[in-house]
Amino acid sequence: MLRNSRESFGLVSILFHWIIGLIFIGQIVLGYLMVRVSDFTLQFSLYQWHKSFGFLILGLSAFRLLWKVANPRPRDPQSMSPVERVAAHGAHTILYLSLFLVPLTGWAVASSSPLQIPTFMFNLVVIPQLPITISDAAEAFWTASHAWLAYLSAFVAVAHILAALHHHFWQRDAILMRMLSPTAAKSRQEAFKLTGKSS
Ligand code: HEM
Ligand code: HEM
Repeated sequence: MLRNSRESFGLVSILFHWIIGLIFIGQIVLGYLMVRVSDFTLQFSLYQWHKSFGFLILGLSAFRLLWKVANPRPRDPQSMSPVERVAAHGAHTILYLSLFLVPLTGWAVASSSPLQIPTFMFNLVVIPQLPITISDAAEAFWTASHAWLAYLSAFVAVAHILAALHHHFWQRDAILMRMLSPTAAKSRQEAFKLTGKSS
């Protein structure tokens, strides 16, 4: 139940996926809104929340990656074509990379800014700045990198979500169910013919 099997994700992977996924989507919305707010006090507070949740994603993703390495990955359904498999696995790899690169470039924005505003993670811990160049040019570079990576990953996430819905409602396989509950996927298994091959 806790660990992944070759048929379904376990409870730990499922919790990691949904908690990190929901915070990630929230971060895109918060990031977009906070840079467009004109009230300075509100903006300062939103930046602190954004940075705090960003570090939370970074920390959780490190544990998630360790868990992934220590667990088998559920098999792909037989109905998936080679192209679909490459697209799905490519999207997952990009999303995994984004979970690290987006917060790290965000950290670089805060660390390279000549304003040197400290990050108070959830008002509990002060996060140190990265040892990188502090200048307007460096800040502009990291800001552009952070924004591009964030919106690019949002685009891939939308494609990923549409693919999951496509599997559930059109293909009618257990792909979405096995990311919702380790046992619910089993009840769909008759409709979900697994290959003997590993993914
Ligand atoms: C996965 C986590 C994160 C996501 C999805 C994310 C996403 C975003 C987005 C969409 C923006 C708005 C970009 C724009 O429209 O210009 C933004 C801005 C920003 N983010 Fe993040 N971010 C994350 C983590 C972080 C972290 C960890 C930090 C800092 C420690 C950070 C610092 C910033 C800063 C300072 C800005 C404002 C840049 C500016 O001045 O325009 N972000 N972020
Ligand atoms: C909220 C809507 C979302 C839905 C419906 C959804 C659905 C799914 C499903 C069904 C799987 C399992 C695919 C399989 O069995 O091969 C999956 C895996 C995955 N999802 Fe999502 N997802 C969502 C959001 C996100 C977000 C926002 C991210 C990342 C930022 C994300 C990252 C991933 C990754 C990295 C995997 C691969 C897991 C692994 O193999 O270890 N998902 N998703």
